[in-house]
Amino acid sequence: MPRRDDDTTSTDGTGDGAGGTAEAAGSPRGRKGRRGEDEGRRRGRRRFFGLAAAAAVGATGFAAATTIPPYLAATPTAAPPYTPRQGRFAGKVVLITGATSGIGEATARAFAAEGARVAFCGRRADLGRRVEREIRAAGGEARYLQADVRDPEQLRRFVDGTVAAYGRLDIAFNNAGITKTGPLHEMSLRDWTDVQDTNARHVFLAIKYEVPHLLRAGGGVIICTASESRRPGGVAYTASKQAIKGIVEAAAMDYGPKGIRVNAISPGTTDTAFVRPPGLPGALWESFKRAWGPRNVSALGRMATPQEIARAVLSLATDDFSYMAGSNVLVGGSPFGGSPMNMPPGFPAAA
Ligand SMILES: NC(=O)c1ccc[n+]([C@@H]2O[C@H](COP(=O)([O-])OP(=O)(O)OC[C@H]3O[C@@H](n4cnc5c(N)ncnc54)[C@H](OP(=O)(O)O)[C@@H]3O)[C@@H](O)[C@H]2O)c1
Repeated sequence: MPRRDDDTTSTDGTGDGAGGTAEAAGSPRGRKGRRGEDEGRRRGRRRFFGLAAAAAVGATGFAAATTIPPYLAATPTAAPPYTPRQGRFAGKVVLITGATSGIGEATARAFAAEGARVAFCGRRADLGRRVEREIRAAGGEARYLQADVRDPEQLRRFVDGTVAAYGRLDIAFNNAGITKTGPLHEMSLRDWTDVQDTNARHVFLAIKYEVPHLLRAGGGVIICTASESRRPGGVAYTASKQAIKGIVEAAAMDYGPKGIRVNAISPGTTDTAFVRPPGLPGALWESFKRAWGPRNVSALGRMATPQEIARAVLSLATDDFSYMAGSNVLVGGSPFGGSPMNMPPGFPAAA
């Protein structure tokens, strides 16, 4: 019986058109690159809208979705309320890749709420500036730097810029990621490379650039976002996330003796733009989740909130986990990951 609790109901939604890097603002190449990225995002959305439209059609009568057999259904739980622990990260400098939305954004907000100074990157400057503004308005300290993690120089500038701004680095959360789906023989080399560069190569490069600063600080913590996703059409994503686990294991052994703990976290399916088709009406998404959760998350019966994954990241960054190195922590709502997704009746199969 297929059971699963991993990520990605669909394609990336993060843009693949340029397949390259964001260029300096205002330059002709930069404008062309951005046009390519916009086109890539539009293409991604068109795929999403396909799903959303089909879902909307299929939603007729969906509210009265067929009864879930008891052996398939986990009783849905609810995310518990959380009160930030004031000052838990006071004096710490945290760096996050990919925090303009989703898990990274929630983690940036959570670290800042607990006293850390947080630098984060992502390509979408409008979202990055909004997150920065809102964290500061709430009394926290955050700094957004636009960077495309596929570009080694932009990534290096982000890491070094964090230390230039805040004077040190204590905790790094290498989280940026995308997915592109399709059977292996139909996956273009460009899409494959884009996923590997964004997910796995970025983690390799980020650790490479972060380690000298962490060593200067006398040690620290690196956490990388992996995934237990293993499903048809997921060749590029699954390979990239498995690679991250390998990088984490090797880096843990290289730097554990020097006081740097390196670990991976694998979120279960989490309610972010990564899995939610853009344009899907909120009510439809909520009814989809209500039907999807019990079928796919066999213990907790629901998707994670990004805040729940953020809290797990914060915990892993504390000395409560001082003896954990080279691990991959599944925060998945069930003990399983990677089997095919069970789509509720009335919704199309996942891409
Ligand atoms: N949601 C899930 O179910 C789930 C499950 C397991 C693992 N994950 C992993 O969790 C991580 C975060 O995903 P999410 O769910 O929070 O989705 P999300 O909201 O789409 O977040 C992805 C983040 O990565 C950034 N990013 C993507 N490509 C980038 C690039 N080239 N340069 C810089 N930043 C880039 C995005 O920023 P910009 O678009 O602004 O660049 C965004 O901030 C990913 O690594 C994903 O694989 C997600």
